[in-house]
Amino acid sequence: MSAVTIERHDEVAVLTFDLPGESVNKFSRAVKDEFAAVLSQLDRDANVKAAVLISGKPDTFIAGADIEEFLGWTTGAQAAAASAEGHAMLERLEDGRVPIVAAIHGACLGGGLEVALACAYRIATDHPKTVLALPEVQLGLIPGAGGTQRLPRTVGLQAALDMILTGKNIRARKASQIGLVHELVHPAILRNIAIARARELAAGSLKRNPQARERTAKTLLLDDNPVGRSLVLRQARELTLKKSRGHYPAPLAAIDAVAAGYHGTEKGYAEEARIFGELASSPVSRELIFLFFATTALKKDSGVARSRDGHEGGDLPAGTPGQTQETLTSIGKLGVLGAGFMGSGIAAVAAQSGVMVRMKDSEPDRVAKGLGAVRDIFQDRLTKRQITRQQFDDQLLLVGGTTDYSGFANADLVIEAVFEDLTVKHRVVRELEAVIGADAIVASNTSTIPILRIAEASQRPERVLGMHFFSPVHKMPLLEIIVTSMTDPAVIATAVAFGKRLGKTVIVVRDAPGFYVNRILTPYLNEAGRFLDLGATVDAVDNAMLAFGFPVGPITLLDEVGLDIAGKSGAIFLEAFGERMAPAQSLRAVVEAGRLGRKGKNGFYSYDADGKKGDVDASVYTLLPTGTTRHEVPAADIQGRLSLVMVNEAVRCLEEGIIQSPRDGDIGAVFGFGFPPFRGGPFRYIDTLGAGAVVTQLEEIDARYPGRFVAAETLIRMARRGERFYPATGHPLI
Ligand code: NAI
Repeated sequence: MSAVTIERHDEVAVLTFDLPGESVNKFSRAVKDEFAAVLSQLDRDANVKAAVLISGKPDTFIAGADIEEFLGWTTGAQAAAASAEGHAMLERLEDGRVPIVAAIHGACLGGGLEVALACAYRIATDHPKTVLALPEVQLGLIPGAGGTQRLPRTVGLQAALDMILTGKNIRARKASQIGLVHELVHPAILRNIAIARARELAAGSLKRNPQARERTAKTLLLDDNPVGRSLVLRQARELTLKKSRGHYPAPLAAIDAVAAGYHGTEKGYAEEARIFGELASSPVSRELIFLFFATTALKKDSGVARSRDGHEGGDLPAGTPGQTQETLTSIGKLGVLGAGFMGSGIAAVAAQSGVMVRMKDSEPDRVAKGLGAVRDIFQDRLTKRQITRQQFDDQLLLVGGTTDYSGFANADLVIEAVFEDLTVKHRVVRELEAVIGADAIVASNTSTIPILRIAEASQRPERVLGMHFFSPVHKMPLLEIIVTSMTDPAVIATAVAFGKRLGKTVIVVRDAPGFYVNRILTPYLNEAGRFLDLGATVDAVDNAMLAFGFPVGPITLLDEVGLDIAGKSGAIFLEAFGERMAPAQSLRAVVEAGRLGRKGKNGFYSYDADGKKGDVDASVYTLLPTGTTRHEVPAADIQGRLSLVMVNEAVRCLEEGIIQSPRDGDIGAVFGFGFPPFRGGPFRYIDTLGAGAVVTQLEEIDARYPGRFVAAETLIRMARRGERFYPATGHPLI
């Protein structure tokens, strides 16, 4: 079956790209060959004077390259050759006898935008679904089919760098403003206008690739003069290095490729291909591509336990996918208990996804405060133009507040986010079950209480589970769904589907202390405290982990989470796991001194009246058992111990069946608290180091600090057998 069909309108050929059997259009080897054949056919047919390229998919123009095919490259040279081939094809498209109009509706990404850039004219629909981007840096790559060359020529250096270095989506209107598209139209007339413009190109009344926008004096000054250009490029390099801390080579390399283009087109394309090849075989790109596959796979996963082959332990209820599909309930109305920090965040993301929400708290002023918090979240999105005024009004209308259970009888799902207190949780579960329907699901957002304990108060524990959101709910991408041995598979599947609808990346984890994310984060944070016990400075600990690639240092994170909360959860971990999770003395001391962290504007760091973080609060050292005399500790020691204690705990979670797969464990760590994405996640990181090396290092540290670094059984076994969590080559998840 062919991906491109050709329809003739007199001298105009309309090429409709509609990849059979796929929801989006993407470029695979076969599609590229077909395109090449179509170009030849157009060239040969003297009756064809111009053409239109349009998509047959409802929401996508072209989503880009088929990333699965990247896995087939075993050397950088192969990737570079593929890039050079892309250049040749798009040069043919650009310079061919037949000018082509790109008629863009929906996502126009990566290779899709590179094709559009080689077209003679670009029309986009003024529609929210229409977004344009070169997202390659997000995969550790650079655009490889001419993007680093044609985009700066089309929109100017600064606007091009902004797109290439961030990979962000830009809307049609912005694309028109920066001169990336020539014309905006309503979707209903896209095709006809495109055909009309093709006719004009054929007649010569429209020039090929006209300047879409008058260039301002500023862009002329910067782009057309070597001094201005080198200034922009230098600033971009500095900013990129600062942001990436040297961990992500792609953005810097993209700047090099863009810069090369100013020394001649040929040089530019050659550099782009060379750099693309180099990056395609780099470890960073491999990890980022893994994360891409892992998140894509999770989106398709119902969350109900898959085959449990491959690792022991665990008792996730098994479900038959077919049954699950049929019993999956769509959540029309959501109830939220507790209009506090988390409850209001959950209500906001639900309303954003079009769900009607009823939020209950015990006092009217708390309800009002919660509704105000929801409004603030929407207001922020409105200010940033992420939503329209109409959407703002619509979403706000979806959230109602109450101090009694009115309206809860109709809820399909209720998420409780009341105080972290078992008695309160039990009370609300009983109250709830007296008013909600028999099929309604009760979810708890508890961060520390076992779901099975909460379910003790329930008449229907099979309809109870945990939905552990992270704060702030509207920004944090992860959702842990916690299932007990009693949770019904259909309830799990419904909660997973609902979490995805809220735009979250969902992992299903087993009910156990700390679930997954906090279970591996706690020993890591504790170990940071142990370094303070040993006399390291707060800065040294935080800076070491920033340099390792975490977005914030562990001590800063403790201040963010709240020291009172960290103290309480420390006690729970000590009870559950014994001495190896005993809170560090320094952490205990600061908690006992009553410091709260950022929310109390007193923690390890100082905070101004608005809660903005300043320097380390030197007085905190007077509270520590090892006092104010601090000494230097090598960053590598800090990085080694903190990272190993965490990844070792992640392996234990896998052994205990708390997570279902290394994939879920990696995604949970990267999306839950920012485990460095370029390292792929704890399990990928172990594979990179090798299980043998990890065990050796753990044993060395355990000899010095007995108890906390005993290697997980699985690691020892893997080290002995030379095993890995993921295949060394090919697709990481097959
Ligand atoms: P919060 O103190 O901001 O909000 C709790 C709200 O529940 C308060 O407004 C309170 O008036 C209300 N409430 C108490 N009893 C109630 C009842 N019987 N009926 C209705 N409302 C009642 O607390 P926060 O931070 O929102 O935490 C809520 C839950 O979320 C806790 O279980 C906590 O462990 C969990 N959680 C908190 C995270 C965080 O970072 N704050 C992260 C993940 C989970």
